[in-house]
Amino acid sequence: MNPLAPDTAASDVIIETRDLSRIYPGVTALDSVNYRVYRNKVNVLIGENGAGKSTMMKMLAGVETPSSGQILLEDQVVTLHSTHQAEKHGISIIFQELNLFPNMNVMDNIFIGNEFFQRGRINEKYQYALAKSLLERLELDVDPLTPLGELGIGHQQLVEIARALSKDTRVLIMDEPTSALSQSEVKVLFKVIEQLKRRGVTIIYISHRLEELMEIGDHITIFRDGRFICEREVRDASIPWIIEQMVGDKKKHFDYQPAPQGETVLEVKGLTALHQSGGHKLNDVGFRLRKGEVIGIYGLLGAGRTELFKGLIGMMPCQQGNIHLNGECLDRLRFQQRLKKGIALVPEDRQGEGVVQMMSIKSNMTLSDLSLRGFRRAWRWLNPGKERENVGEMVQQLAIKVSDAELPVTSLSGGNQQKVVLGKALMTRPEVVLLDEPTRGIDVGAKTDVYHLIGRMAHQGLAVMFSSSELDEVMALADRILVMADGRITADLPRSEVTREKLIIASTPQD
Ligand SMILES: Nc1ncnc2c1ncn2[C@@H]1O[C@H](COP(=O)(O)OP(=O)(O)OP(=O)(O)O)[C@@H](O)[C@H]1O
Ligand SMILES: [Mg+2]
Repeated sequence: MNPLAPDTAASDVIIETRDLSRIYPGVTALDSVNYRVYRNKVNVLIGENGAGKSTMMKMLAGVETPSSGQILLEDQVVTLHSTHQAEKHGISIIFQELNLFPNMNVMDNIFIGNEFFQRGRINEKYQYALAKSLLERLELDVDPLTPLGELGIGHQQLVEIARALSKDTRVLIMDEPTSALSQSEVKVLFKVIEQLKRRGVTIIYISHRLEELMEIGDHITIFRDGRFICEREVRDASIPWIIEQMVGDKKKHFDYQPAPQGETVLEVKGLTALHQSGGHKLNDVGFRLRKGEVIGIYGLLGAGRTELFKGLIGMMPCQQGNIHLNGECLDRLRFQQRLKKGIALVPEDRQGEGVVQMMSIKSNMTLSDLSLRGFRRAWRWLNPGKERENVGEMVQQLAIKVSDAELPVTSLSGGNQQKVVLGKALMTRPEVVLLDEPTRGIDVGAKTDVYHLIGRMAHQGLAVMFSSSELDEVMALADRILVMADGRITADLPRSEVTREKLIIASTPQD
């Protein structure tokens, strides 16, 4: 080391952990980690699903207590036994899983637990004005009195961010804040992060989107299997280097291999759904899906991808159009009946619609199977080992990191919870699988697991449709790509004709 180089490292560090460990029954989530957070920087943290990122953040935010080790804030040992204590020290967190109340309005969600009082009463007027200005900063054009449940998941995420901004924060933790945001919303968020930095706020930022980390990050830290691996200035890091540090020697590779295609399984004509206000959610959507085929749906947030899936499965009414499965008309059938006929959906909002929080991993996976096919339940009584065996197989196929399938599903890391929801849909043995953003929140290594799984499903003769807002993903995986914008299909391209340019142009809404 150059003795003349200024030794600024110590005072640059705002938070430091010393030998911090967190042990859960059967899992060491963090193992003697020495982690440093640098003042006034965007500190990005990356690692595979289950690497311990969220666990670290929960300890810094006072949500969980360490099993051993210390946390130092400005060189002083602190105890953070509640979020309230952490907030007193100026540390706030935006959680990976949305933490809001859908039946309350946007304003109340922003200020809950943090209300502004005047003479013993909540100062609604002040809160309204502040909420309005926070939403404007996030370029979110909704009235603060709108019920939160009416917003899509991306906008709800922005409300969660507004809530963190309403507090007096020195260190702001964002655990995958963009996993549900569109590209333009991400841009706005990045502007807000720059503003915060100028005001002296330190940011900790977790994401699985590597390009994003390279763009917004100043300093990068990598965790693997509950351990600190290394840290570096972002300008000295490259994507291949990051991936190498993340996965160690567990490298994976995906090769596209088309499956033989059979007859048409799903045929959709003129599917149209209207907003109450009159606009189109879906506008004359039509396509055919064959056995063994994988269709990727590309589109920006709000293009109508989720609506299409909900329309197909019967979770959202459509005013016009027809859906045929193996020649049989499904138009009059409801959700449960369509499931029974063999269409399964893995929803986008896995937290809200995907898992039952109180139940075990195993019960979550077999849930729709049980409710769907009563005879299987009886059959399973005769084969008590069968359920365990099926779940075990699925856990292995999806490479879910779990010590015991009897544990509650909430004990899994975010990405692993999503794999459970995938497993749940596949256990119903569908003919058509609809996957809405199947890799959202899943690390680069596990994405490959999901790609392999989709490939395997197609080779088993299933017809698969998945949506993605990542160009590379639809291009890597699909036999055919449908592009959506404004509720319409704006392009229908076989794999051989797809280019990035075509996809970008077709996905741009025409105003
Ligand atoms: N309450 C809990 N009970 C048991 N195990 C837990 C609990 N919370 C977390 N774990 C385990 O600790 C490990 C680390 O989880 P963590 O949520 O910190 O991962 P992560 O790096 O945030 O992953 P992701 O990218 O998927 O969000 C995982 O193996 C997880 O299953
Ligand atoms: Mg996490």
